[in-house]
Amino acid sequence: MSRNPSAPRPEPCAFVIFGATGDLAARKLIPALWTLHREGALHPRTQVIGYARSEIDETTLRRNLRTALAEQAGAEPSDEAWEPFAARIRYVRGGYDDVGGFGRLGEALDALELPRRLFYTATPPNAYAGIADALHATGLNRAPDGGWTRLVVEKPFGHDLDSARALNRRLREAFDEDQILRIDHYLAKETAQNLAVLRFANALFEPMWSRRTVDHVQITMTEPMGVEGRGSFYEEAGVIRDVFQNHLLQLLALVAMEPPARWRADDVRDEKVKVLNALSCPDPEASVFGQYARGGGHAGYREEEGVDPDSNQATYAAVRFEIRNGRWSGVPFFVRSGKRLRGKASEIVLVFSTPAHVPFDLQEPLAADRLVLRVAPDEGIRIDLNAKRPGTGIRLGRVGLDFTYDGRFDRPPPDAYETLLQDAMHGDATLFMRADEVEAQWRLVEPLLARGDAGPPHLYPAGGDGPAAADALIGAHGRAWHAPSLEGERGDRDGEGRA
Ligand code: BG6
Repeated sequence: MSRNPSAPRPEPCAFVIFGATGDLAARKLIPALWTLHREGALHPRTQVIGYARSEIDETTLRRNLRTALAEQAGAEPSDEAWEPFAARIRYVRGGYDDVGGFGRLGEALDALELPRRLFYTATPPNAYAGIADALHATGLNRAPDGGWTRLVVEKPFGHDLDSARALNRRLREAFDEDQILRIDHYLAKETAQNLAVLRFANALFEPMWSRRTVDHVQITMTEPMGVEGRGSFYEEAGVIRDVFQNHLLQLLALVAMEPPARWRADDVRDEKVKVLNALSCPDPEASVFGQYARGGGHAGYREEEGVDPDSNQATYAAVRFEIRNGRWSGVPFFVRSGKRLRGKASEIVLVFSTPAHVPFDLQEPLAADRLVLRVAPDEGIRIDLNAKRPGTGIRLGRVGLDFTYDGRFDRPPPDAYETLLQDAMHGDATLFMRADEVEAQWRLVEPLLARGDAGPPHLYPAGGDGPAAADALIGAHGRAWHAPSLEGERGDRDGEGRA
């Protein structure tokens, strides 16, 4: 869980970033470490070793990271603030399967005399297994006396079920499962964790959290961005590998899992695996795949750099899942996500059944109650329900009970990476995925990958609401998409529409 200010500070460690000159280090890891440093959440003796292939020196790495931080924050940190942070950063040059380079890394680690070591793979995914092998070959996989050694593995974790299994095998030849932390940054989003608190720390919700009162569930993740210079990666990945196999299935598992006995890594992951094993996509053929075309001043996907001009890769998908267990049998879970849509939103919506009998004369069909969990932007929780309009007689209107984090607590929600890096340093694996979870998720999406390869996707204009065929998918089951609250547009929206 994210640390609150009174939580203990992690012990000092050596934080090794493989791929220190890359995009992830600059955009996510260093900004998160910087914030932890500024908040006093990083032990003063904690050191960062950047490891990469580039022929640069320590001074250049530090300067580049400062520039990247300034670009993100919109302002350069002052010398006074930056210097103590920069002094934590070292650089070791080497290849990702180069035992010589790992030897130099070992020497740099020994010189730090820190027996706690965190290795982080911020490299291209094809380097992960080689890194684990090289750590093994140089003995860096073993914890020094009185310390620990952990390996944080970024997504994507494999390309399909076979490659994920193979990667798990390779990692476990070098590390024990409890040393491996597989990242899914959606698990560290504040609302994803708050979902568990909402369910398990309130008496109100759990009794209605089942097929008895929930009509269906929707999970939506829309993004206004295109593939942002990652065209060749996206050609390989597509929307199913990029966000369904991980973020969206993790959110679904958190919604649908049974209460764990304790909020501890293995109890939580046991419950998630059970629900993933009960989950299926009953009709992959009916899933909708889309691809953005030119529109709203944006290029189409096929015009993006690194993308085949005839590509059929899906940048949008809408899928119906179902869960075969006593709690959820018969409740559809509709999940959709796409790039280059009208705005940014990640939302989970539980749509409740309407009462069997309503004793009022209604002018319009009764709208269903909804619980809306906003994962991004403006993280928060809203309940949409029917209320009486003021005045004589009974006329209904829609109202929203809305919780946002704005000013409610003594700090805003942290960035997911701040939470994850702290948890990794603490050795708390609750928000990381276990090998069997990742494999269960690949098993689930494989039929969708096969379906996605089968034919051309529906083209949808960039900046719009996604393919109309997605309406037909949910419409065929007598439901309609919830209109998500897009960034900058949040309000009491209880409408229906596509993404
Ligand atoms: C990443 C995907 O894992 O998540 C990206 O690779 C996506 O394609 C991103 O844009 C979304 O994350 P967030 O935190 O910005 O919602």
